[in-house]
Amino acid sequence: MTIRKAVFPVAGWGTRLLPATKSIPKELLPVWDRPILHHVVEECARSGVTEVLFVTSSGKEAVLDYFDRNHELEAVLEHRGKEEALQKVQAPATMAVFFSIRQGEIRGLGHAVSKARTWVGDEPFAVVLPDDLVLSKEPCLAQLDRVFATVGRPVVALEEVPWEETRRYGVVAAEPGPAGSVAIREMVEKPQPEIAPSNLAIIGRYILTPEIFDFLEGTKEGTGGEVQLTDALRALIPKGIYGYQFEGKRCDAGSPLGFLEANLAFGLHTPEVKPKVLAMLKKFLEPG
Ligand code: G1P
Repeated sequence: MTIRKAVFPVAGWGTRLLPATKSIPKELLPVWDRPILHHVVEECARSGVTEVLFVTSSGKEAVLDYFDRNHELEAVLEHRGKEEALQKVQAPATMAVFFSIRQGEIRGLGHAVSKARTWVGDEPFAVVLPDDLVLSKEPCLAQLDRVFATVGRPVVALEEVPWEETRRYGVVAAEPGPAGSVAIREMVEKPQPEIAPSNLAIIGRYILTPEIFDFLEGTKEGTGGEVQLTDALRALIPKGIYGYQFEGKRCDAGSPLGFLEANLAFGLHTPEVKPKVLAMLKKFLEPG
């Protein structure tokens, strides 16, 4: 694996999930039996990532607590002989080495990523948006890493979306590239369907090279009045930037319906509970 470091922008308000996210970071809402963020950090760890940087804001302290030890709770569980619970409580802190930095102002994804400059240093790194949960055999980030190992240039995860949804994503135009990738020729942040260059959308997994930080510094506010990562990535097109349509199924856990979908998906993909989930669905599909 080439990538050791992953940057997680987690400073946002989670407005699409209000009021649930009024006092709880959306990243800590549970999907099946663990927080959204646990699933995504697990994907990174399985992809070879050993260091994680959370770009946070005030009110997100619980995110850091989750990936830290909790000696008081551990002592209680140990005293009560709750071995299984103890292991579950200890596991998050062992998944990587965790760092954090405050974003300061909430000025968009590009601004959040720019905060990672010093921490990243001089090596390729991943940017991971925890709203996007991917169920796949090979972890999504590992799939991108394979492509990166071949092309040696930045790679973004791509997925075809319904045309009417292009306004929710960064959208690319591309032509076939090496190792099953596509070479990106155009990128637009959240275009209306009429002007979208395709329906191939960027999903929240990126492998970037440190050159992006210079471009981010020169990037002005774009769509939604925010500094967009997509706008800085567009500047890389002449030097080469690639996309990869990953194998797997994605849920947007940052919206109410996508959150429900993620819970159903994880329930249905967990062999020991699948029959029960199916029985629950049947119960509520029956009239009465
Ligand atoms: C961000 C990016 C967008 C990308 C999306 C993937 O948008 O700006 O290019 O397609 O993540 O989830 P956001 O969902 O933060 O508005």
